[in-house]
Amino acid sequence: MKNLFISLIIVGLFAGFTARADEGMWIPLLLQKENIADMQAKGLKLSAEEIFSLNQTSLKDALVIFGRGCTGELISDEGLLLTNHHCGYGQIQSHSSLENDYLTNGFWAYSKEEELVNKGLTVTFLVSMADVTSDVLAEVTSQMTEAERQLKIKENSDKIIANATKGTHYTANIRPFYYGNEFYLFVNEVFKDVRLVGAPPSAIGKFGGDTDNWMWPRHTGDFSLFRIYADKDGKPADYSPDNVPYHPKKFFKISTAGVQEGDFTMVYGYPGATQEYLPSVAVEQLVNVTNPHRIRVRDAILEIMEKEMNADPLVRIQYSSKNAGVANAWKKWIGENKGLKRMNAIERKKELEHQFYQWVGSTPENRGKYSMVLHRLDSLYQVMNPYQLGFDYFVEAGMSMELVKSVRIINSLLQIKENTPQAALNIEIDKVKASYDAFFKDYDQHTDRQIFDAVFLGLYPQYCPAEFLPDIFTKMETKYKGNRLKFGDELYQKSMFVSKDKVQALLATFTYKDIKKIQKDPGFILYNSLMNKYLNDISPKLALMQAERDSLMRLWMEAQRKFQTNKRFYPDANSTLRLTYGVVKPYYPRDGVQYEPFTSLDGIMQKDNPDIYDYNVPEKIREMYRTKNYGPYAVNGRLPVSFIATNHTTGGNSGSPVLNADGNLIGVNFDRNWEGTMSDVMYDPDMCRNISLDIRYFLFVVDQFAWAKNLIQEMVLVK
Ligand code: ARG
Ligand code: GLU
Repeated sequence: MKNLFISLIIVGLFAGFTARADEGMWIPLLLQKENIADMQAKGLKLSAEEIFSLNQTSLKDALVIFGRGCTGELISDEGLLLTNHHCGYGQIQSHSSLENDYLTNGFWAYSKEEELVNKGLTVTFLVSMADVTSDVLAEVTSQMTEAERQLKIKENSDKIIANATKGTHYTANIRPFYYGNEFYLFVNEVFKDVRLVGAPPSAIGKFGGDTDNWMWPRHTGDFSLFRIYADKDGKPADYSPDNVPYHPKKFFKISTAGVQEGDFTMVYGYPGATQEYLPSVAVEQLVNVTNPHRIRVRDAILEIMEKEMNADPLVRIQYSSKNAGVANAWKKWIGENKGLKRMNAIERKKELEHQFYQWVGSTPENRGKYSMVLHRLDSLYQVMNPYQLGFDYFVEAGMSMELVKSVRIINSLLQIKENTPQAALNIEIDKVKASYDAFFKDYDQHTDRQIFDAVFLGLYPQYCPAEFLPDIFTKMETKYKGNRLKFGDELYQKSMFVSKDKVQALLATFTYKDIKKIQKDPGFILYNSLMNKYLNDISPKLALMQAERDSLMRLWMEAQRKFQTNKRFYPDANSTLRLTYGVVKPYYPRDGVQYEPFTSLDGIMQKDNPDIYDYNVPEKIREMYRTKNYGPYAVNGRLPVSFIATNHTTGGNSGSPVLNADGNLIGVNFDRNWEGTMSDVMYDPDMCRNISLDIRYFLFVVDQFAWAKNLIQEMVLVK
């Protein structure tokens, strides 16, 4: 009787933990088996093969990884590519100067000749993927240590990759899924000539800025346009004026039919990282240690950057991209912590662990294999906490200081030998020169120095555990009698790494002998001190603990999949192609408030305020609003701007196509809502929404605002 009672409770609780509607980032290769019936029941009109196929052209062929961290999609037969404004931001920024301020004014190529070349930018197509778990784990045994296991996995993977790419220009990689319980192979084609075609002014593409970032209701026209070029055979090639627009196997048709509440939508792209299967102790570390400290450091950085950006238009250009990067994660962590607390995430994880303990005793086999896994994770995290904190400060308050970044650029010159031939040396010097040119274009010493004082000299020694503090701080105590600012003054006066002139002078006549000079530079000494601390006292131990954590997480993951028999599992995001689907839906952020799932130009005008940088609507848009001059893109007199749906997305999904039931493009994913930012750790179907740019606003801006008819003509518009 008692047993029956317990199992009834367990069944009831398990049902509660079943992945509910719309949670999940699914593997496209498994669509047929795992999702297609559910998707079609919810409205999808395509087959699994039309979405993802290894044998025929499918929607996946119109998708790319854009740069290193975003998604992009093809929207014309001539290689025209759509992604977010914030994904192309680095490129738009790097082409901008006070004379040609594309950030402020936007940029449009009215012919292909006007497109701008972007050094270093690549896009990556997925050619094929396969489950290679058994080959990767061949000869791996449970008796192996974690290091031996990793070595074997690496050996096997190298062979598989070599085989998969033999005789082709493809690249390949193998990624672990479910914490190394499964492995998939990805074969890719990487294009290297990707040119900037169009970007709206920031007052459209970044409208609302960091004030509205991670928030709904939203009014950002977050898109930019690029074009992929190939050699005359359609193969990837480095930039050349002879390259021609790439003809993709597939591109998306654009639907102007619009979206209604309740409509089926899906997002196809490259989500970066989630951690849905953490034990409670790891969520505790995130909520109570990692996030608060990272937030504190970035609070200080942002306050200074914003003050200086507001005071000087040049500094605004120089620091806008850096500022957006620092602010983006900072704000997400704040939202994530709020959401996890609201959801009682730690308690819920503990509850799940409680159920696990009931289950694990049920058979001797389970007991033997899994009974210790949570205890071991618990004690591991206790030991790991201070190391993690030391590491977080090393990264956030040490390596991200601009002075330190400047020193790092010189490093390749320190590798040269006394007898390195002059020609080889010159090549290295030129590379370093180019990096410094880019660095100093966006460097403001006054801003950097204030951040250095507040963060490196202030917060680092105050909050980092003493044993993980670089030795340079001891020197400040002895040589400078604790007067850290005096240390800072001398550093910034004497180090060549904060002065463009001094670095240029060094590089103009650089010889092997100058290495000594560099090593005596106080900036270099500081960098060395940071690195020594990290390499000697943090990284070796942390790496061992992380290896142990990985192997425990592999076991914990396996256990979770076994004991939650009702739950539909999906692997954590790992920068591989995924599909997520959901519906357009309002939500209730708090008592008495409901958010509509749509916004329009009316809302942009309600926010309009010439005195606030983020809300200063371009005069031309004001004018178009007054005359209701929306071209064919309005609905009942309103111009749609963005919409939300229940798709489960994360960082990396930016720029992802948002598709309707027919697989046509209705939007571009660019964000999540504030109440849903914790979905990387725990998804809440009532609160989590992805935010998409309505494709009709994109068309309006390109067509009516920029009058770039040349681009509209390339696209295929359907109802
Ligand atoms: N929150 C979005 C994402 O995670 C957009 C970030 C860019 N926008 C910004 N205002 N910083 O990438
Ligand atoms: N803005 C994010 C990105 O750059 C997407 C939003 C999210 O994290 O869901 O990928």
